[in-house]
Amino acid sequence: MNSRPVARDIARRPSLISVSEPLIGDNVLPLVRECLNTGWLSDGRFVQEFEHKWSSYCSTQYGVAVSNGTAALEVAVAALRLEPGSEVIIPSWTIISCAIAVLKAGCIPILVDCDPETWCMSLDEVESKISPRTRAVMPVHMFGHPVDMRRLNMLAKTYGLFVIEDAAEAHGAEVVGRRVGGLGDLGCFSFYANKIVTTGEGGMVLTNNGEFADRLRSLRNLGFRSDRRFFHTEIGHNYRLTNLQAAIGVAQIERVDSHIEKKRWIAACYRERLKRLSQVVLPVEREWAKNVYWMYGLVLHDDVPFDAAEFAHRLRERGVDTRPFFLGMHEQPVFRSRGLFERETYPVSERLARRGFYIPSGLTLTELQIDRVCEAIIQELN
Ligand SMILES: Cc1ncc(COP(=O)(O)O)c(C=O)c1O
Repeated sequence: MNSRPVARDIARRPSLISVSEPLIGDNVLPLVRECLNTGWLSDGRFVQEFEHKWSSYCSTQYGVAVSNGTAALEVAVAALRLEPGSEVIIPSWTIISCAIAVLKAGCIPILVDCDPETWCMSLDEVESKISPRTRAVMPVHMFGHPVDMRRLNMLAKTYGLFVIEDAAEAHGAEVVGRRVGGLGDLGCFSFYANKIVTTGEGGMVLTNNGEFADRLRSLRNLGFRSDRRFFHTEIGHNYRLTNLQAAIGVAQIERVDSHIEKKRWIAACYRERLKRLSQVVLPVEREWAKNVYWMYGLVLHDDVPFDAAEFAHRLRERGVDTRPFFLGMHEQPVFRSRGLFERETYPVSERLARRGFYIPSGLTLTELQIDRVCEAIIQELN
């Protein structure tokens, strides 16, 4: 049977409130126009300006712009020159990019579960998974809430581990007043269109280590060396960011504080309207943390008689778009079929994957739309 909606059905539905739309200010236009007028499309001054401005914003010495957040993680792990078979601890509940970066470096991802409230990796579990082969740990700042980097860095120091932050979802988030991305050995960002600062596609690695920075620049650019052109001593990638994208990034950084304020305003509006609902768990903000609420996630209580997928379907019928939460790495067929993570279970990740989803949180969202989203949620749950 053909289940495509007919035009009549579509017309009857309320217009869909999208989960995320970027906010591109008109300050981008002169910069992009400069690229077009001068012909500096690929390389150019905006790449360095973007690197400088973002690394300054996060208080690090070096920034190396790359083509996306996954590439940032890949070159960051590769920059460490870990021996094949080294173990890198990552959360199970995250984007697959984290595991891919570890595997591509010839290393083994070791999973930990996450905290049921912040949704970030459980630091108790990190310590229990450290083995003589562990060389690095990858904290992922989830949905805008930071990992407690004070405690993680102490663990890393005790056991001699490198720390690679994945701050793709947490631009401007803070741990006791210090911005994430500059709190480990390497900090990785994505600037995909749904991120707080966007370049359409884009990424960056931050570090205070000059050797890492040199190696990151070489890895993103086909393994080119600074001392001799067309002379290669290792396999690199083409992970370059274009000048056009960097121009957008420079303009976006000018607005980052207002983007973060808007995200926090959206979160405050949702909290105010949804806090009396006993059927959903709302995002938290630890007293030492600044949560930038990249996306506003909800987790259905066990007594709600349907799962997140069903709830998403019902909200869509009411004109509200949502996205499901990640499915844990230990539940991914691509890894299971390779014999990875066999018989491992992570109850919090599994619960989040089935009961969690995020609601419209884009930078163009209006209070009226927030009211409509909350009305739809409340009506469905009552
Ligand atoms: C936590 C996290 N890390 C890495 C990435 C990968 O970034 P990209 O899509 O730019 O490759 C994402 C993507 O959204 C992400 O959420």
